[in-house]
Amino acid sequence: MKLSIALLSFVASAVFATQRNHVQLLPRHGTKEVGEPLGAAYFLTNEWKDNMIIVANIGSDGTLSLHSAVRTNGNGGHGNPANPNNTDPMFSQASIKASPAGVLAAVNAGSSTISAYWIQDENPSVLLPMGNPVGSNGDFPVSIAFNNAGDVVCVLNGGAVNTVSCFKVDHVKGLLPITNATRPLGLNQTTPPTGLDGTASNIIFSEDNCKLIASVKGKSDKPGFLAVWDVSQDWSLSENFTRVVAPPPCGMHPSGLALIPGKDAVLAADADVGFSIYANVEGKAAPPAAGGVHGDGQSSTVTIPGQVGVGWAVRSPKTNSYFLSDIGTSRLTVVNVDDHLKGTIVKQYEAEPGSNPTEIDIATLGGKDFLYVLLPNATSIDVVALESASVATRIQRLNLIEPAHQVNITIDPRNLHGMTTYVKKGQPQQPGSNQGSVQNPEQAGTVPEPEQNHEQEAKPGSEQEPKSESVPAPEQESAQESKPVSEQAPEKEGFDLNSE
Ligand SMILES: *[C@@H]1O[C@H](CO)[C@@H](O)[C@H](O)[C@H]1NC(C)=O
Ligand SMILES: *[C@@H]1O[C@H](CO)[C@@H](O)[C@H](O)[C@H]1NC(C)=O
Ligand SMILES: *[C@@H]1O[C@H](CO)[C@@H](O)[C@H](O)[C@H]1NC(C)=O
Ligand SMILES: *[C@@H]1O[C@H](CO)[C@@H](O)[C@H](O)[C@H]1NC(C)=O
Ligand SMILES: *[C@@H]1O[C@H](CO)[C@@H](O)[C@H](O)[C@H]1NC(C)=O
Ligand SMILES: *[C@@H]1O[C@H](CO)[C@@H](O)[C@H](O)[C@H]1NC(C)=O
Repeated sequence: MKLSIALLSFVASAVFATQRNHVQLLPRHGTKEVGEPLGAAYFLTNEWKDNMIIVANIGSDGTLSLHSAVRTNGNGGHGNPANPNNTDPMFSQASIKASPAGVLAAVNAGSSTISAYWIQDENPSVLLPMGNPVGSNGDFPVSIAFNNAGDVVCVLNGGAVNTVSCFKVDHVKGLLPITNATRPLGLNQTTPPTGLDGTASNIIFSEDNCKLIASVKGKSDKPGFLAVWDVSQDWSLSENFTRVVAPPPCGMHPSGLALIPGKDAVLAADADVGFSIYANVEGKAAPPAAGGVHGDGQSSTVTIPGQVGVGWAVRSPKTNSYFLSDIGTSRLTVVNVDDHLKGTIVKQYEAEPGSNPTEIDIATLGGKDFLYVLLPNATSIDVVALESASVATRIQRLNLIEPAHQVNITIDPRNLHGMTTYVKKGQPQQPGSNQGSVQNPEQAGTVPEPEQNHEQEAKPGSEQEPKSESVPAPEQESAQESKPVSEQAPEKEGFDLNSE
């Protein structure tokens, strides 16, 4: 059973609560009415016991207001048993992912399950669970990918049994396994995984949905690589993957991936050097030499000077640029990729030192891109308005500690993970995503029904309505203690610092 626990919203009067929320969390500059939220942002507490999805509404100006916390009915997980204090517990990107089609999926690394939800389009902060969590067909799931149509979801497992595995999103039954769509990655890993070296990072589909791509960090003398499977029309995967090593000067730690649309290429953050661009990932150009680099000279690796841990990447469609976060330097780097796949650094922004930014995502609202940055060690989310690749202004810092504390939700900087956004349909643009936006007419709708249902079948009716148990937030403390966070003037200084 899912419980929805209000962080701030549930007080005696809903109207009052809404107004009070605006005062608390949305700096409105004299405006009282905010109107309906245009979307939502989601991330994981990833606690060992009782993993939760924190849901925040996205207002028309891009700012966030915390809405609720939803139990995943699974446990979070933390890799690297030797150092339980590191703030990147899964060594991964996309541990929670929303598809533009309105499905949300999240990993429970500690339970080796996936929790999936329908996002209610009229009210994206309302999540309708698709039955119980399903097994991830491997250990320690770390990353989620959707196909373009949003009716197939794949997971990357990073533990001792490390695999990729895909499921059909069934309208009635939830996630159903796909025949021959669970494939081993072949890493020598433990559960929980030991890293950073040799851990699984991120999973995405190629733009044409004909390949499934997982990034893997290198270990000792073995370079990092992309594992690329062929995807059949029935969404089964090739038995073996093609191993594509990072282009020279070879980065050891390919991590977060972002598609480069229309170019058959992928940008990978690399926590060893900066970032790499892998060309010809769909393999339509000349095939690569065995074990070689795709792209016939078009692939490249670019060093970000002074980088410590560039691990996450997202494309901003409106500014046509890529944002990369560095957990070590607490810096964001903006990258341009030209028509010849040459990558250059446009600008760098300083987040607060020691805030350790990890996952980032983009939402496009009213033709403008907004960047959402999870800062685990500051237990905060930054909202950054993007005028262009080189003009970015932080418009909000939302601290989670107080609101969570008031309803007894544990927020631990070492565990917080993931950040994904959803924008209501009918908006000028859907949220930016790693999935690209090109539909594949050949593959859309061709998934056959798997023969057998999953053991943990959804119970239609009984579980479609989320059972909400509201925990009233203490009104006085909540209003007062949240004020300093919300009523701060937008802090442009830190964020506009150009460190080049
Ligand atoms: C982790 O942090 C705690 C304090 O928060 C400290 O007592 C412990 O020694 C740290 N462990 C490691 C391995 O650094
Ligand atoms: C699954 O793949 C195996 C080979 O890996 C093949 O023999 C078998 O026919 C496939 N099953 C289906 C249902 O396609
Ligand atoms: C797997 O890793 C362990 C620990 O690093 C090592 O002792 C073992 O030899 C490795 N096994 C293989 C097959 O490489
Ligand atoms: C996959 O790899 C295994 C081991 O190298 C090999 O025996 C098998 O023939 C390969 N399968 C295909 C379809 O290439
Ligand atoms: C995390 O924040 C604490 C202060 O809250 C600081 O002492 C610590 O150095 C930070 N960790 C990193 C890795 O920057
Ligand atoms: C939080 O926990 C404390 C101590 O267990 C309890 O007294 C308090 O009522 C709880 N508050 C809420 C909102 O659940």
